[in-house]
Amino acid sequence: MTEFGQARRADFGFEERLVFLNHGSFGATPNIVLAAQAEWRARLERNPPQFMRGVLPKALDDSRAALAAYVGARTEDIGFVDNATAGCNAVLRSLALEPGDEVLSTSHVYNAVRNAIRYVCRRAGARYVEAALAFDRPRVDDVVAALTERMGAKTRLVVVDHIASDSALIFPLARIASLCRERGVRLLIDGAHGPGHVPLALDDLGADYYAGNCHKWLCAPKGAAFLWVRRDRQIGVHPPIVSHFMDQGFAPEFGWQGTRDPTAWLCVKDVLDWRAGLGEAALRDYCGALLGRAVGTLEAAWNVGALTPKDARAFMASLPVPGAPPASHALAEKLRTALLDHDHLETQIKAVDGVLFIRITAFVYNSDEDYARLAKALPKRLRDIGSDPA
Ligand SMILES: Cc1ncc(COP(=O)(O)O)c(C=O)c1O
Repeated sequence: MTEFGQARRADFGFEERLVFLNHGSFGATPNIVLAAQAEWRARLERNPPQFMRGVLPKALDDSRAALAAYVGARTEDIGFVDNATAGCNAVLRSLALEPGDEVLSTSHVYNAVRNAIRYVCRRAGARYVEAALAFDRPRVDDVVAALTERMGAKTRLVVVDHIASDSALIFPLARIASLCRERGVRLLIDGAHGPGHVPLALDDLGADYYAGNCHKWLCAPKGAAFLWVRRDRQIGVHPPIVSHFMDQGFAPEFGWQGTRDPTAWLCVKDVLDWRAGLGEAALRDYCGALLGRAVGTLEAAWNVGALTPKDARAFMASLPVPGAPPASHALAEKLRTALLDHDHLETQIKAVDGVLFIRITAFVYNSDEDYARLAKALPKRLRDIGSDPA
């Protein structure tokens, strides 16, 4: 049986005293996968042209096939990109929007993706529409109602997160997909936090496009991400870098985006092997249960209620910071830095909608003590900051 918690810390290269409660920002990659990446790089450099011509195409196909099986998709429908932002950009920039068209998202959208939507809308004379959602425990029905209300005859595309960055909310994708289908509107899912965090069955999701990161929760090296496109939507979808294989099919186009280091993509297969060794079900059970206990510990210690609803979270949740002075970015940054500098706690702390909140994560190397330490440290650091939050 796999041991999780302290026993798994040695799989990663964390600083010795670091308590890592922020897997959500950039993930973390096991040493064994970094070693595999170094080996791929060494192989490439033994004869770069021969590697690119003779080894890379088949190795990429193998990695893509392993990923496709993991996310419940056909290999042909997946193309590697550098990050989820690039995957969203590929879809958005490939759309033929007309003046007056609308692209709809929600107030939980990641700001980089919001900017990409704004950019393509501005270029086309189209309109970006944002459905307002509560930040504190939005209900599934409210999410669907807010999107329904803002969807109109001009809506061409809906963009929603799979799991939102700040609120950590898991969006009700099945309900959103059926709403979009009923209205004949295409659906792009920003799955930056999806793969490796919640089970995926992309072929059954009812979406048109899904951009997912492998370098967050899957633990692949940075620069590993993918775009899945429903097979009948693939014509006209180009990668962010248009190169030699333009209009020659989805897989060839995404398979060559100019000269680049392809080793993060190749390591997706290696990271899936590492996870299989731990046991995917065991990993999910451990991280899900740990997050549940962590939220309980912090809620009780701080006398607050988590912002992320219990039935819409997995390994990540946000909680209000108790008794904080008026929320500001400066205060958030000051508190985050104090926890890191004095307590070796790496966390994400932000101010959104006037709420100062902390986002925590639970992954294979965490254990209950990590959250007990946070429970104690945060009120103390807040007191230290005291009346000088600026
Ligand atoms: C919801 C969401 N979308 C997109 C991104 C961007 O991911 P990347 O920087 O890997 O493109 C993030 C990053 O945290 C995110 O949380």
